[in-house]
Amino acid sequence: MAVLPILIAPHPTLKAKAKPVKEVTDAVRALLDDMLETMYDAPGIGLAANQVGSLYRVLVMDCGAREDDEQPRPIKIINPQITGVSEELSSYEEGCLSIPEQFADVERPAVVRIKYLDETGKAQERLFEGLEATCVQHEIDHLDGILFVDHLSNLKRNMLMKKLKKLIKEREEEGDHA
Ligand code: NI
Repeated sequence: MAVLPILIAPHPTLKAKAKPVKEVTDAVRALLDDMLETMYDAPGIGLAANQVGSLYRVLVMDCGAREDDEQPRPIKIINPQITGVSEELSSYEEGCLSIPEQFADVERPAVVRIKYLDETGKAQERLFEGLEATCVQHEIDHLDGILFVDHLSNLKRNMLMKKLKKLIKEREEEGDHA
């Protein structure tokens, strides 16, 4: 397993649509393992392939990882399809490893049903609720080249992206002086 570099917005791969996995091979399983390690290392609760420069429709998530008393609950998802959404919406303050240190409230369906392949290639279908529902929708968005800031008003998005640009510049300057 390896920790992979995470792409930071704006980046063309983050805007690209990922392609379905045709066959769940060892290479796909290795990618999922690397993505999980990268996500835990960051740390984050979800990561989509686009964010590590790969355009396969795969994502990993673990919404239990943040709480010290909770066991890790890694979920590996291949070729996800949303097969149902609740009318009820919920709003969470979202962030993204590709948009570091920026956060904003995003409203999404509170419950979603997702059909996907697991790492053995077996078809699965299950409900995601609460934080997991937000997380899985955020990650599926990534596979379609959509970032959480794309759900915001132009004004708010431009403000966050400007702050991000400033942060990256500051980090680069700090790097130069190190
Ligand atoms: Ni993200």
